[in-house]
Amino acid sequence: MPYVPAENRYENMLYRRCGRSGVQLPAISLGLWHNFGGDTPHDIKRAMCQTAFDQGITHFDLANNYGPPPGSAEEAFGEILKTDFAGYRDELIISSKAGYLMWPGPYGEWGSRKYLVASCDQSLKRMGLDYVDIFYSHRFDPDTPLEETMGALDYIVRSGRAQYAGISSYNAHRTAEAVAILKDLGTPCLIHQPSYNILNRWVDHDGLLDTLEDLGVGSIAFTPLAQGILTNKYLNGVPEDSRATQGKSLLDGMINERSLASVRALHDVAEARGQTLAQMALAWVLRGGRVTTALIGASKPAQIEDCVGAIKNLEFTDAELAKIDEISSEEDINLWARSSETE
Ligand SMILES: NC(=O)c1ccc[n+]([C@@H]2O[C@H](COP(=O)([O-])OP(=O)(O)OC[C@H]3O[C@@H](n4cnc5c(N)ncnc54)[C@H](OP(=O)(O)O)[C@@H]3O)[C@@H](O)[C@H]2O)c1
Repeated sequence: MPYVPAENRYENMLYRRCGRSGVQLPAISLGLWHNFGGDTPHDIKRAMCQTAFDQGITHFDLANNYGPPPGSAEEAFGEILKTDFAGYRDELIISSKAGYLMWPGPYGEWGSRKYLVASCDQSLKRMGLDYVDIFYSHRFDPDTPLEETMGALDYIVRSGRAQYAGISSYNAHRTAEAVAILKDLGTPCLIHQPSYNILNRWVDHDGLLDTLEDLGVGSIAFTPLAQGILTNKYLNGVPEDSRATQGKSLLDGMINERSLASVRALHDVAEARGQTLAQMALAWVLRGGRVTTALIGASKPAQIEDCVGAIKNLEFTDAELAKIDEISSEEDINLWARSSETE
């Protein structure tokens, strides 16, 4: 059966302006880091993308290395673009990135122009696209002049490979530098992609959100559910069908007695608000409008539907926010700290 998107797909989603740009993004975006590689059946990937679009999620986030194996998530998404979204390209914001290891040798990772442009071309080929909407430098490279990395993003946009440029996991100081270089080159930085959730608040400590607000750059918070810790998933132990059993990025020790104590107490707060814990965690990231969109992952369509329900209540009382601060411990779960720690 050919897929026909829900007619009412734009009725329930909230769209928020990305910084001081012309682009609006859905409050919830879908990332394809996990569960879109060769180890997940294609029909599940299709069902997740279809459910997302039916719910008004117009933004799909990829990177060169998403899989496993690296590249396979882009290939799978390319297939879905052909079979399901062929007539809807102009309704979609598709992003990709380069920064982490993609191929062997000195030109297969980090921030050189050589790597970024070649990787962008490879991503376009895997997805069967003429252009992506956003192309990111995936991490700060301390050994490459920032002018070169930003120059590559500028070139990628000017050559028509991407509509907009973005950066990921750069700290506030490096962000200000990168944004200034891009501005001088005439290609404004559209968006920053940092990790951010109730248990990982480095963007607050670093002042990144203040910097982005000042500079008019939007933001997309990744791992808003702390890879699933901030859901009801682990309340009663570790279920078989969970990321924690896969030994990939949700590492041993991240789910521990202390984090679970926070999660149980947060679950009670969510219940009192009439939300699932996942919905409250997303609402928390989106509170106050400084983060443009929350970038979720999922392993099944029902999770996406549950997450989209978050937008029904994005408001918090001062008492609720204080309670959340009091009961949540910051956890050592920021796998991307190295990039943002580089002065
Ligand atoms: N820029 C970067 O360096 C970077 C790094 C990491 C991620 N990202 C981006 O951020 C995206 C999201 O990352 P993430 O997948 O770690 O985000 P996340 O939303 O924090 O975690 C997603 C996981 O939470 C669980 N989940 C989701 N909704 C649920 C619900 N309603 N109820 C119960 N459990 C639920 C699922 O776990 P199970 O799979 O266990 O069911 C799902 O796989 C990635 O796909 C990628 O696009 C970017």
